[in-house]
Amino acid sequence: MSKQLLILLYGGRSAEREVSVLSAESVISAINYDNYLVKTFFITQTGDFVQTQTFDQTPDSATKLMTNETVNLADKVSPASIYEKDAVVFPVLHGPMGEDGSIQGFLEILKLAYVGPSIISASVTMDKIMAKHVFESVDVPQVPYVALTDITEIEITAKIAEVTEKLTYPVFVKPANMGSSVGISKVDRQEDLRAAIDEALKFDSRILIEQGVDAREIEVAVLGNEQVTTTWPGEVVKDVAFYDYQSKYIDNQITMAIPANIPEAVMVDMRQQAEKAYRAVAGTGLSRCDFFMTADGQIYLNEINAIPGFTQFSMYPLLWENMGLSYADLIDRLVALAIEAFETRESKLQN
Ligand SMILES: Nc1ncnc2c1ncn2[C@@H]1O[C@H](COP(=O)(O)OP(=O)(O)O)[C@@H](O)[C@H]1O
Ligand SMILES: [Mg+2]
Repeated sequence: MSKQLLILLYGGRSAEREVSVLSAESVISAINYDNYLVKTFFITQTGDFVQTQTFDQTPDSATKLMTNETVNLADKVSPASIYEKDAVVFPVLHGPMGEDGSIQGFLEILKLAYVGPSIISASVTMDKIMAKHVFESVDVPQVPYVALTDITEIEITAKIAEVTEKLTYPVFVKPANMGSSVGISKVDRQEDLRAAIDEALKFDSRILIEQGVDAREIEVAVLGNEQVTTTWPGEVVKDVAFYDYQSKYIDNQITMAIPANIPEAVMVDMRQQAEKAYRAVAGTGLSRCDFFMTADGQIYLNEINAIPGFTQFSMYPLLWENMGLSYADLIDRLVALAIEAFETRESKLQN
């Protein structure tokens, strides 16, 4: 049997482009080359596609994917030229223009199978306000919040009053459509709320203001299309109060406990809520469901990441490893799910 062509897209336009490169490097070093030929494309910060390396065997451990400093811009290609018949695309891209349905729509137009969320599951989970509405509709527990979507002075003033009435400080102010904690502020006093809203407005015109909770952060990995499977949860153990971009990716002040050291009943409940939320957002391929757990054992879904960090040291693959599914087998599973989703989609279009 000939090898499956896997097209890896990495880099991208969002603030999470560095994590994307690390995730893609993990994929090329761990994938089983008996089954795959891998072609890679780097997406620059300005959105250009540049063809980079091709791999037909495990590269040596020092191999890096080409990025900003090493790509040859003369190898820039038209995005549509990534097309090859029967290829599967793995968009290892996070945040806006990667995880929000845009690249997924583009790949559907090209009639390519792709790993990960469909257009709708990507776009709904990327918008924190839309996601909250959907989770609410299926009674998944969440922290109280106020959504600000009409950016006029009158509305901002009205929402600040609503925050005072419905929430208690601290609150978290978030742009609806970002990732990696970009634009997010923790606000301890009402006098600082307006400045935090203005900061979030630099990144999006839809703003979420959320009740802050003093909670542990516990995550469940979800895998599947119609048939959904979940893992035992893991905990992100923080030695900082606010898990921001600096602490997440630069200072490495995070360790993981897998499985999480929490009561089994809570873990079972979390897995059920994760599956319910995943189905509600039409989850496809994979997702990491991130929960808060307060000292009294109450759980709240914080968010669903439809393309979670995917390095070999990231929570998502490690949660599966704990279930007995290795990183290389996880990639096989994701590719199989991509083909299944593609065939389902195409067969419905032909009816
Ligand atoms: N309501 C909240 N209460 C307490 N901590 C929060 C709350 N919202 C966010 N945080 C902290 O900020 C981090 C980033 O927020 P999150 O909503 O997960 O954004 P991102 O999409 O950038 O990951 C969380 O992992 C958590 O540490
Ligand atoms: Mg998060």
